[in-house]
Amino acid sequence: MSEEIPADPYDPRGLRHRVMACYIFHPGSGTLLPWPADIGADEEQFYPFFQGDGVNPEFPDRERRITAAPAHIVGNSIVRQLAIHQCLSMKAAFPGAHWSQPHLVTAHLVAQRPKPGKTSPVSPNYLHQDLEDTAIHLIERIGVTGGQSVIGKVAAAGLHPSEASPNHILYKCTLRPGETLYIRDSMVSHHANAVSVDPDYDGKDGPARRCTILMDAKPFNLEPYYA
Ligand SMILES: [Fe+2]
Repeated sequence: MSEEIPADPYDPRGLRHRVMACYIFHPGSGTLLPWPADIGADEEQFYPFFQGDGVNPEFPDRERRITAAPAHIVGNSIVRQLAIHQCLSMKAAFPGAHWSQPHLVTAHLVAQRPKPGKTSPVSPNYLHQDLEDTAIHLIERIGVTGGQSVIGKVAAAGLHPSEASPNHILYKCTLRPGETLYIRDSMVSHHANAVSVDPDYDGKDGPARRCTILMDAKPFNLEPYYA
């Protein structure tokens, strides 16, 4: 799947690739419908993406345009099932009145494609929070090293894991295909290190790559569309 994902223009080295899909989930009926992308003057289909003031210092106060996923990825049954499962599991774990409303589910398909001697970034290079709960689904990992996830205390946000006090590091893992890491954002900080080509990789399964689906769900707000 990752070979279909175009380069992320916000990675100047061109070693990270990204597309985005959005859905509306209706908790009452359990249905999931695709939310259409915007269409630019150049006919490119995209979703505006803004994480909030000061959330990502790499893109402060800046809205990004993320290329919309092609229709066959939006309609992919595994991606759709992950989106539905995300909402149902969040509703069960963290119930609240907002679950009477439709929710916007956002799925980022992000692939790191390092080259020999050139790493591909996974996250900002320090422990951070994103102001939203996120599931990280690892779908492909071929011929790479790195990409280790670290979960830290909120107090360690802003520090590289190597700089944080050991008792501020809560969990470390390197996800394998089919595994998921859920991050309850308000309670922790997180980081993942860059991905490199495994020097022992013989290339028989194509270019070295790591591909994830990052997914979040929040109450859908129509206000911007009627402003
Ligand atoms: Fe993050």
